[in-house]
Amino acid sequence: MQIARTHAQLGAVRAALAASRRGGVALVPTMGALHDGHISLVRAAREAGYEVIASIFVNPTQFGPGEDFSRYPRDEGADCAMLEAAGCRAAWLPDVATMYPPDAATAIEVGGPARLWEGAMRPGHFRGVATVVATLFGQVRPDSAWFGEKDWQQVQVIRRMVRDLLLPVAIETAPTWREADGLAMSSRNRYLSVDDRARAPALFRALETVKRRLRAGDAVADVLEAASASLTQTGFTVDYLALVDHATLEPLDQIGPDCRLVAAARLETTRLLDNIAV
Ligand code: PAJ
Repeated sequence: MQIARTHAQLGAVRAALAASRRGGVALVPTMGALHDGHISLVRAAREAGYEVIASIFVNPTQFGPGEDFSRYPRDEGADCAMLEAAGCRAAWLPDVATMYPPDAATAIEVGGPARLWEGAMRPGHFRGVATVVATLFGQVRPDSAWFGEKDWQQVQVIRRMVRDLLLPVAIETAPTWREADGLAMSSRNRYLSVDDRARAPALFRALETVKRRLRAGDAVADVLEAASASLTQTGFTVDYLALVDHATLEPLDQIGPDCRLVAAARLETTRLLDNIAV
């Protein structure tokens, strides 16, 4: 696997991959601390016939004040070993000065699906995500880019940006990878204490319960309220638990073909996100 840290190195890697006989170049953007969920994206892109470039960049602009930017887990050696084992052809590892020119004066503000939920709880978060993802697209010029359903709202924000700006990249997704007990894999799970790790799968179980009751015809508001109360009982602080349109993220009061359950809840200081189809 090739490692690129400068624009010149990335340019050389990009040119070599473009010359290969496979079906184009795929980008898998990450912030590192990789787990099987990230690796599933690399595998899916390879299986779809692409040469894969993964980026690792802990993006300061998507963290709010008081969030975990400085203590976000970093382990470049282990990450590169996992990427290489998964058949990734190149890793793009820019530092902050390489990613953002010191006089950078541009940011991308997505409205619509970025407004609610994570957008409301974390002001500026999606502006940071959209800006870094668009910058990565400009740097790597991938034919496709791969994102996890784990961050459902993020995928919808990126799709909307790509649609509105006519960016020439196909957005592809892969399902959420879970631990055996249902907990969605996340780089932040390692922050959980032993007790909280034991409680954490209750979030996914609550989503499954909501889904079952909604399909049985129970009233949306009642079902969401009961699930939220039961999570609070378990020790969670629930930021939101909502039934939303899968693309616009607007709240819904009835189930339909295009809906999604989205949730964020905290155990101590660790925020867990999850979502499922209904
Ligand atoms: P990060 O949290 O490192 O996630 C990188 C990619 O892996 C995202 O597309 C995310 O949805 C996906 N992913 C994470 N956990 C997953 C799981 N359990 N199953 C499937 N996919 C999973 O998301 C980001 O980084 C950043 O916001 C980024 C897009 C890189 C921009 O900085």
